[in-house]
Order: sequence, then C-alpha cells, then structure tokens
Amino acid sequence: MSATVIDGKAFAAEVREKVAGHVARLKADHGIIPGLAVVLIGEDPASSVYVRNKGKQTREVGMKSVEHRRDTDISEAELLALIDDLNTDDSIHGILVQLPLPDHLDAELVINAIDPAKDVDGFHISNVGLLGTGQKSMVPCTPLGCLMMLRDQHGSLSGLNAVVIGRSNIVGKPMAQLLLGESCTVTMAHSRTRDLPEVVRRADIVVAAVGRPQMVQGDWIKPGATVIDVGINRLAKEDGGTRLVGDVDYDSCAPVAGAITPVPGGVGPMTIACLLANTVTACCRANDLPEPEGLTV
Ligand code: GUN
Repeated sequence: MSATVIDGKAFAAEVREKVAGHVARLKADHGIIPGLAVVLIGEDPASSVYVRNKGKQTREVGMKSVEHRRDTDISEAELLALIDDLNTDDSIHGILVQLPLPDHLDAELVINAIDPAKDVDGFHISNVGLLGTGQKSMVPCTPLGCLMMLRDQHGSLSGLNAVVIGRSNIVGKPMAQLLLGESCTVTMAHSRTRDLPEVVRRADIVVAAVGRPQMVQGDWIKPGATVIDVGINRLAKEDGGTRLVGDVDYDSCAPVAGAITPVPGGVGPMTIACLLANTVTACCRANDLPEPEGLTV
C-alpha cells in the first residue's frame, strides 16, 4: 500500500483561512488589526522573494504588513535602533528579521534585541528557553507547521517513537522539544549518529531536517511510519535545469510509509502560514484576548 501524501499546500491554505477568520473577528469585535514587520538587509535574491511572499500573504489574510529594507552596509547600531522602534510600536505585533544577515552583523545579538513577545520566528533566547521548559512561548514556524501536520495525521502522538534527523536551532532542536511536549519518545539524530538506518527503523515518526538531498532511504522506514521532509535541496538535471528534492528519497520511502510530505508542496508552504498564525497569536496575547484555537501549541 502506498502512503497518504500530505498536501502541505492545501493544509497551509486552511491555516491561512483560519488566520483570516480570526483577523476579521479581531477587527470587528475589538478594532484591532494585527501587524507584522519584516526587516530585510541587503539584496539577496532568495531572501527578497521570501520577503515579498510574506508581505503578500500577510495582506491577503487582512493583517498590516510593513517591510523595512536597508542597505547591506547598515551598522549594527542602526539596525538595533530600528528594532527598538518596532518593539515600541503598538501597531506591530510581530517582528521578523530575515536571515542570513551580512557578516558584519551579529545575528544572535540582533535576534535577542527583538521583544520576545513580538518574536514571531521563536528564535529569541527567551522563547527557546520557554519552549525547552514546556512553557508558553512563540514557536518557530517550520517545526510548528510539522507538528500541525502530525497532529492532523495521528490525533494523539503520545508514546510514539519519533526520530528527528538534524540538530539545527531553527528546526531540529525545537522540533524535538515540541514532540517531547506531545509525549513522544524522541531521538535526535545527526551527521555523527551511528547506524542511522537502524535508528530510523524504530521510528513511528521521522522528521528529516538535515540538508542532505534524498538521504533517507525506503529500507530505513518502518512500514506505516509518518515521514516529514523539511529538506529543500536544488539538484542539477541532465538538461541543464534544476529540480527541488527533499532530504528523503521520496520514491523509495512513499511505498513503505503510512504518510509522507512531498517536496515541493509539503512542509514548505506551512512555514509562512505559521508565521501568520504566530502573528495573530502574538496580537491576541498582547491584547489579553483568548488565543486562536488550533494555531499554536
Ligand atoms: N531565512 C530563511 N528562513 C527564515 C525564517 O524562517 N526566518 C527568518 N528570520 N529568516 C529566514
């Protein structure tokens, strides 16, 4: 039997619809419009595309979108002053500084200058600590999207064996914390893990976020397991073009898995949808209003 293909595009559209409904209620009942500010330093083409998409989707769900573009040679002091202005701006509930930053800017310092309550990326050290200790926090968008899809597949995740491959601060570590919070038995695997195939074979849930094209093979997968592929890797094609592949070898894994996310069209579209969800959550918290159901952990 072949796996259920988890349609991230459709799932993300549902999340955006929920966000839009909540935004409309905030406006109608309280006169509040959630606002998201995105800061982009320099001209990196990929970052520009991301930022444009974020702005477009923010406006589409009825929220205020503000973009602050600055030249690559901005000083750290100037960037920190901009963040300070956004921290104290009551019309802004979420702040995202697009990464990577130019080398002369200290990304940790910059991220930790954001008001943790407005840190819709969930990267601020306070939010990392809150998540790690099981307290209410802002949750990083990609792991939040993965968790939403896993909950949708399984209902309760309690007692399941989960293997997270990759230990990045942005995906692997917060993903493992979220799965622990769901009472999974969590193994964090990485490039130095011994006998990775054997470790993965024990997993009911596999989250691959390691950045190696098509690494996870079908004979590593326990029959019926759910496979979430966070990887986005561009491979050269013979005709000179390129194609996107994940960290999972889809063709060998799909016949064995119970459910699997494709690349593209799986986890990818969920990231911006969860950014919008986090902005509404931050807005509700800032105004002491009930949080939207199903949009956060
Ligand atoms: N650059 C690529 N992905 C992301 C993201 O999720 N957040 C931020 N701030 N920068 C990114």
